[in-house]
Amino acid sequence: MAMLNWDTLREQCMGCQKCALAETRHHVVFGMGRPDAEVMFIGEGPGENEDLTGEPFVGRGGKLLDDMLEIIDLSRERNIYITNMVKCRPPQNRDPLNQEQEACIGYLRNQVALLKPKIIVCLGRIAAMKLIREDFKITKEHGQWQEKAGVWMTAIYHPAAILRDPNKGPDTFQDLKGLQAKIREICTHTY
Ligand code: URA
Repeated sequence: MAMLNWDTLREQCMGCQKCALAETRHHVVFGMGRPDAEVMFIGEGPGENEDLTGEPFVGRGGKLLDDMLEIIDLSRERNIYITNMVKCRPPQNRDPLNQEQEACIGYLRNQVALLKPKIIVCLGRIAAMKLIREDFKITKEHGQWQEKAGVWMTAIYHPAAILRDPNKGPDTFQDLKGLQAKIREICTHTY
């Protein structure tokens, strides 16, 4: 797929029929945030609230994500971009199938090419396994950093996982502090 500008990409994505998730979705959830963001967050896929509103990370997980971001002076309005591996809701919130992720990944690649982020933060194992390493182990490797094609990559626990298991909170706080340090080190206009 040739690289498209933001408006054309969004438009194409909104009408996407590349996989069966198109049949059950209410809204495509393209992503939101600053088109000049240096830090990009990538989740798994829309849940029910996101499917109904068309916005990523709304509802309880989204509120927690916003609280986590605020700890290190980030917000989706001010200095980051947020999207998901798949742009349409998998029924019953099941994990997106590999074929659905493959059908959708061209949109994400185009978003990354337009944004040119310095840092990509995977939210949870699904994004980490696709974007960092196929055998990525989130419980062991969260908060670790590696550079890939000039982009610094890390993964933190998904907000829904923290809601299910609050014991993941302290580790996530440390990971956020690590993210803040990395931003201070390499970003020029996030803070
Ligand atoms: N979970 C995700 O991974 N993404 C969303 O947008 C909402 C919930």
